[in-house]
Amino acid sequence: MLNSIKVNQLTNEGQKLGMMYFRVAIILFGAQLLMGLIAAIQFLAPGFLFELFDFSVARMVHINALVVWMLYAMIGSVYFMLTDETGHEGVALGLGKLAFWVLTAAVTVVVLVYIFVQVGAGTESTLWLINEGREYIEAPRWADIGIVVVVLVFYYNVFATYMAGKKTGIMTVMVADLLALAGLYLAGMWYTDNISMDQFWWWWVIHLWVEATWEVFVGTLAAFALIRLIGAKREIVEMWLWIEVLMLFGSGILGLGHHYFWIGTPEYWWEIGALFSSLEPVPLVAMFVHVLYDWGKEQGAAKARGEEGNVVTNGPAMAWIVTNAFGNFLGAGIWGFFHTLPQVNIYTHGTQFTAAHGHLAFFGAYATILIGMMYFGIQKAYGVKRMRATFNSKMAIILITLGVLGMTVALTIAGYEQVLVERAELGGTWEAFFIAQNLPWYIQAQLWRTIMGVVTFIGFIYLVIDMLLIGKQAQQAEA
Ligand code: HEM
Ligand code: HEM
Ligand SMILES: [Fe+2]
Repeated sequence: MLNSIKVNQLTNEGQKLGMMYFRVAIILFGAQLLMGLIAAIQFLAPGFLFELFDFSVARMVHINALVVWMLYAMIGSVYFMLTDETGHEGVALGLGKLAFWVLTAAVTVVVLVYIFVQVGAGTESTLWLINEGREYIEAPRWADIGIVVVVLVFYYNVFATYMAGKKTGIMTVMVADLLALAGLYLAGMWYTDNISMDQFWWWWVIHLWVEATWEVFVGTLAAFALIRLIGAKREIVEMWLWIEVLMLFGSGILGLGHHYFWIGTPEYWWEIGALFSSLEPVPLVAMFVHVLYDWGKEQGAAKARGEEGNVVTNGPAMAWIVTNAFGNFLGAGIWGFFHTLPQVNIYTHGTQFTAAHGHLAFFGAYATILIGMMYFGIQKAYGVKRMRATFNSKMAIILITLGVLGMTVALTIAGYEQVLVERAELGGTWEAFFIAQNLPWYIQAQLWRTIMGVVTFIGFIYLVIDMLLIGKQAQQAEA
């Protein structure tokens, strides 16, 4: 995908633009992992790169790169499916291309500033020029405004194409969901001096993205993918999609309350947060059942017709999308539920347990399916009917998944130790925080996390190699 093949078979401009977004996404994914490794080593050797590349910066670039590569891959996926779904070639895509370059230039400048301006006093101008200080969405305000403009162009492309073309259920959900997703970004742009108020609104972006609008978004991707990959019936996947939208918004919106337990918001959030957020895993289970059910049914139907069952048109995409069903269920559903009741969260809040959940959920629910969409892009770029998984595809998915699962288990152990020692035994004081971090269980867990991080990174190298080669290999196999 990253190479400069001259003759490609992408049928329209939207798909070419989608591939441009995918390329940047994969580069940022690599940068994210490198930053994670630096931050992980700093847990073990706090002096590592001190004052050259501080933990605060490595961590910040790690999680901002995460959010940005996922948004790039999401935009790429939308451009990729736009024509297929609407039957229309796309409105004003030239403008969309311009927006891509503007966004990419802005992201580059923001990252360079993060890296070169690491310390110093924070003033009003810092907010505008360097960093807004809101975890995950730290971009300074000038970039925020630029992002809004670029997103408006993107949305215009999508909405105008939708209006001009066929209106499938998948596209209807997507167009409505993207409006909510983009609109929520505004909640993270206002500055207040009051930290409770700031956190209150910041969670509107973070929570209402990952637990409502992004989930619905990947629901539309999964629906699209199942139709393309295994010929699932549109009426069935779309019916499920609508049910999921209802359930996800039903539990996800008020589930926001699980971030309002300890930030100074009124106590009624304990009950609201506990009830609605504990319902959140329900739609995730439904989605999980849905994917596997559709797959099994399709295979059964094919066998009944006397055909070769399980004809998957894109092996790696299918593998990543099935991993998504498991990963979303485990990372968001199970690991999320673990700490969502205030009675539990009072002990686990802000421990490595949270980081365990954060890693498995972002990976399982989003990284997986977005990588799957990239494989779709590659298949189309090389114009092959069927793309089988190669040795590299298998190594990539096995090592990355194993690595992230390993990190999750290690962080869960570290979090467990913090809950017992720092919180339960020593009462959660500042001193207790450091005592707990220096005990062997915690240090061993951090070591294992770093080792599993290296495994993840090796898997990533296989992934890049695969993305560079698999299209050609599939073409040759077909010839
Ligand atoms: C794909 C969906 C999800 C993603 C990507 C995700 C990701 C995250 C991340 C990154 C954090 C840490 C935020 C921070 O920096 O403070 C977090 C916190 C949290 N998540 Fe999720 N999450 C998801 C779904 C869920 C679900 C379904 C539940 C509950 C059933 C849940 C419960 C929680 C809770 C209670 C916290 C607060 C932890 C604390 O108090 O420290 N999450 N989530
Ligand atoms: C090479 C592999 C990776 C390593 C070594 C790594 C390491 C780290 C470290 C050290 C932190 C800071 C934790 C803290 O402040 O206590 C972090 C945070 C985070 N990482 Fe990673 N990471 C890796 C891969 C990933 C992947 C693949 C994802 C998701 C797709 C991810 C998502 C996150 C999130 C959401 C946070 C914030 C968690 C929170 O605040 O609770 N990381 N990571
Ligand atoms: Fe949440």
